[in-house]
Amino acid sequence: MPDQSSTQRRPLIAANWKMFKTPAETEAFLKEFLPKVSSDPGVEIVICPPFVSLAAAGALMKGTPVQLGAQNVNENSEGAFTGEISPGMLAALNCTHVVVGHSERRQLFGETNSGVNKKMLAVLKQGLIPIVCVGETLAEREAGTTLAVVERQVKEALVNIPSADTKKIVIAYEPVWAIGTGRTATPQQAQEVHLAIRDILKDQYGSLTSLSVRILYGGSVKPDNMAELMACEDIDGGLVGGASLKPDAFLDIVNYRQRKAAGR
Ligand code: PGA
Repeated sequence: MPDQSSTQRRPLIAANWKMFKTPAETEAFLKEFLPKVSSDPGVEIVICPPFVSLAAAGALMKGTPVQLGAQNVNENSEGAFTGEISPGMLAALNCTHVVVGHSERRQLFGETNSGVNKKMLAVLKQGLIPIVCVGETLAEREAGTTLAVVERQVKEALVNIPSADTKKIVIAYEPVWAIGTGRTATPQQAQEVHLAIRDILKDQYGSLTSLSVRILYGGSVKPDNMAELMACEDIDGGLVGGASLKPDAFLDIVNYRQRKAAGR
């Protein structure tokens, strides 16, 4: 049995701003948000603005506990790939995290499991932390194939990942039917899939890795439902879209523990 204390998972809460916020809007958000973040918030906080706002965000986040992430990346280090951004370019802007394989990219931009895997390998090679998204559609859930779909997405995303890197990976379970719909998975529905993902990691990489990897829940996370989701044993944080666009709402999500303790 691995020592549980060595595998304590620090909660991670990531904001996925999608195609919202210019550099000026990013600055306005951070000037309001950052002073309200405690110097030791008890959770890791990552904000993923659009590419064009990364530099503005990075400049303001310097010296704060808030980390910078990107929403996508190209797997090549450079070359004739018009409109694309490499892992090295993100690192040069002080990004530490990259969202890989978000369902919007899979559904609207044709990303496949093998493409997601290439991005994972490139991101890790650059020393960045991938937040890889998996999750079933409503049709897949109704057909009873949720766990099979998620298993395939997880396994194919992780092909050939160096074993030294497996613990760094962050997985986000985001049921597609819960994204931007206001329809959150129940804590039970989310926990079932999170546990299944942890079991896959255990089979492939052993207990230590499976107990170390953070598995975030995403899909209509709000200030009101964060604490009950976080009460589930295998939910280690959130990937938050809509509710991360307003400083106070995102702050309430980040401070879910303090709010719960205060009965708010
Ligand atoms: P949502 O988006 O919180 O607006 O549902 C989550 C996501 O797409 O990462």
